Amino acid sequence: MIETRNLTKTFKHGNIETHVLKGIDFRAESGEFIAIMGRSGAGKSTFLYQMSLLDVPTSGEIVIDGEHTHAMNQAKRARFRLFRCGYVFQDYALLPELSAIENVALPLLMQNLNKTKAFSRAYEALEKVGLGHRLENIPSNLSGGEQQRVSVARAFAHRPKILFADEPTANLDNESSALVMNIFRELHREGQTIIMVTHEEQYARMAGKIAKIDDGRIISVTNNG
Ligand SMILES: Nc1ncnc2c1ncn2[C@@H]1O[C@H](COP(=O)(O)OP(=O)(O)OP(=O)(O)O)[C@@H](O)[C@H]1O
Ligand SMILES: [Mg+2]
Repeated sequence: MIETRNLTKTFKHGNIETHVLKGIDFRAESGEFIAIMGRSGAGKSTFLYQMSLLDVPTSGEIVIDGEHTHAMNQAKRARFRLFRCGYVFQDYALLPELSAIENVALPLLMQNLNKTKAFSRAYEALEKVGLGHRLENIPSNLSGGEQQRVSVARAFAHRPKILFADEPTANLDNESSALVMNIFRELHREGQTIIMVTHEEQYARMAGKIAKIDDGRIISVTNNG
């Protein structure tokens, strides 16, 4: 479903090279929920960004959903991200001038769904995350936890092949974190493939597997209970 082979990433600034990913072989099957853990600076976000096509690796291969992604041009990568991936970030990344429902509907409209269909899907997704009563609020009129649930709704509304999340609960209190994680668990139960970076052991345990990264390498992959 998704596989990386000998993936490396080196950042260059002037004469300085930073080798962040040092050859990562990773595999997730369809329907798996995998948590990525590791200390700060280990390369978790960098790995997630390469694998989710938000950035381009220095070397190695990424195959997602049967497609060899290194052969894709920019336009194809953008379409792939739009149609087949969903993204949740630590800082929500909502558009500040759009209402909750407009934020969720926007990618659906970009996928050429008509307005009625896009907004009805966006509504369903917001209902599912418990925000059916907050459709018209702009992000600044929502709590952090509510904003993150809007961003989760946006990420799964089109039923992506893979949902990628980078520390989705890092800015949330325990109660909001639990709400977000319960949505992830529910999506996983429905068959959604999820790859999530987290620092929190209790949320990593909700995944089926935990992959640990240290110093740009995967040091272990363990099955949960
Ligand atoms: N654009 C960049 N240019 C240079 N170095 C970078 C760049 N992005 C990340 N790095 C470096 O790569 C290393 C890994 O960063 P990354 O953000 O992947 O870590 P992380 O495991 O996600 O950490 P955290 O838990 O703090 O989020 C760090 O040392 C960081 O400074
Ligand atoms: Mg990170």
